[in-house]
Amino acid sequence: MSDAPHIPVLLNEVLSAATPVGGVWLDGTLGAGGYTRALLDHGAEHVYGVDRDPRAAREMARWSADYSDRFTFLPGTFGQLDTLAREAGATALDGIVLDIGVSSMQIDEADRGFSFQKDGPLDMRMSDAGPSAADLVNGASEAELADILFQYGEERASRRIAQAIVAARPVADSTLRLAEIVSGVLPRQKPGQPHPATRSFQALRIAVNEELAELARALLAAEQMLRPGGVLIVVTFHSLEDRIVKRFLADRSGKGGGGNRYAPPTDVTPPSFELLNRKAVTASKDELERNPRSRSAKLRAARRTDAAAHPADVKGLGLPRLDLIQLGAGRS
Ligand SMILES: C[S@@+](CC[C@H](N)C(=O)[O-])C[C@H]1O[C@@H](n2cnc3c(N)ncnc32)[C@H](O)[C@@H]1O
Repeated sequence: MSDAPHIPVLLNEVLSAATPVGGVWLDGTLGAGGYTRALLDHGAEHVYGVDRDPRAAREMARWSADYSDRFTFLPGTFGQLDTLAREAGATALDGIVLDIGVSSMQIDEADRGFSFQKDGPLDMRMSDAGPSAADLVNGASEAELADILFQYGEERASRRIAQAIVAARPVADSTLRLAEIVSGVLPRQKPGQPHPATRSFQALRIAVNEELAELARALLAAEQMLRPGGVLIVVTFHSLEDRIVKRFLADRSGKGGGGNRYAPPTDVTPPSFELLNRKAVTASKDELERNPRSRSAKLRAARRTDAAAHPADVKGLGLPRLDLIQLGAGRS
């Protein structure tokens, strides 16, 4: 990983939602260990740190000795957090924290291919496994590419961009080349506006890493693994992610609506979570000044009740159609 430190986002707010910190926690997005170390320093007895990026293990070597046997690294994806925790010997957890997305270290490393500011290969995988962005760019059909750009990037020019990518095949294995193809069919960037390729790069990254399906799986797994009174804390960075967390917690806390003004909701499943905040928590003015990356961060937190987990259904979570198909939930 690069030497640029990853500044943990909303750390005070995470700790305040986690307080009183105690028992066994799982940090599903270990990264540079910012949350994990804070939890260990504030009273967690043990923290399991999950990350799909093998380079997180290298970073961990810098600090994990300070906590000796109170910390365990679990390589893998947070969508499998229940399996990973059980295999490590945990039957139930007192808290789970997720800080969704890529770390600033991953973005800064040009060879990971996340950035169009510096040239790098079209990779974008957080782990070393599975298809890369180059595989999608050169192998997906034009319709598939347009769907990815539209659903994961909310890119209105998705069809035009997909057409330009297919026309430019074989696309060289270069982030700058892809950014050039995308920019070539979009209006020129105006001062103060994001780079024209921002949405396309976000879309490809989400597709490569199955980020939204992973998030949905993690929420369902957390519902299974948290003991009554256990806390779930999720920090997200864009509206597609936040919508999934918001809808999941609204549904599980009985605030999801259902029914209408003439007919009460028919779903009487007892709530499995109780919301800790009515609205998403955002960065303070002070943090915004110190760390501009916190600008789009949203934290939602909820406490597990003693009711049984709800049926594992992802249909009402606002997942794009691509994910519903992948998760086997069909078309909504
Ligand atoms: C924003 S960083 C977390 C930073 C961390 N909270 C800290 O304070 O250092 C996100 C991390 O989660 C990892 N990650 C993203 N999606 C994942 C997934 N589905 N499963 C496991 N790890 C994931 C990334 O590799 C990255 O290291």
